[in-house]
Amino acid sequence: MSEDKLFIPLLLGTPRKGRESYTVAKWLYGKMRERDEIETQLFDVRDFNLPQDDYGMEIKEDFPEWRDAMTRADGLVIVTPEYNHGYPGTLKSVLDLLLPEYIHKAVAFAAVSAQVWGGVRVIEALVQTSRELGFAVTFTDLNFPRVHTLFDENGDLIDEKAYENRVKAFLDELVWMSRALRWGRENLPSKYH
Ligand SMILES: Cc1cc2nc3c(=O)[nH]c(=O)nc-3n(C[C@H](O)[C@H](O)[C@H](O)COP(=O)(O)O)c2cc1C
Repeated sequence: MSEDKLFIPLLLGTPRKGRESYTVAKWLYGKMRERDEIETQLFDVRDFNLPQDDYGMEIKEDFPEWRDAMTRADGLVIVTPEYNHGYPGTLKSVLDLLLPEYIHKAVAFAAVSAQVWGGVRVIEALVQTSRELGFAVTFTDLNFPRVHTLFDENGDLIDEKAYENRVKAFLDELVWMSRALRWGRENLPSKYH
């Protein structure tokens, strides 16, 4: 099996002013960059100039950086807040830009919420959509409940120790899935790649 670095972008899923998910995304991006096996790139839904009168794969040529990144990617991390037990519409619009580029690649979720449940419901909602997009979902999530209490003003976790094992397990699982699926894409015949 190829031991080359895995390319796993991170997508921040909300454009909201004052978004706490930005802090989580920056922190997790830093953790991914610490891993020797991972090359990553941060995408922010705010940077996608989405049209008001078109939708889906028809307009993917207008987003070449995202298209090329996901063509090359082995997996994806999505950092999303929970909005009314679902995900932000902007995140769905960005995900809907592509489809074949995602097939048989791993996706892992980090969910952010104001309440105590840590976004478990938004992850359940994203699993359903991710499956239709062709992703293979990991089963080790990261949850950030009561997110406004978790980070200091520098964007550092107040209790880093509490997340040490969790982020390791999250990334270990994602790396395993991404590598296994890369092997599959390279070695097993499929009409999709
Ligand atoms: C439209 C909207 C709906 C929300 N719904 C929920 C919710 O269902 N559950 C929850 O725990 N927090 C909810 N929140 C609070 C967010 O989870 C909270 O703002 C958190 O900081 C993550 O979102 P942010 O990245 O936009 O800050 C909601 C926030 C907004 C703006």
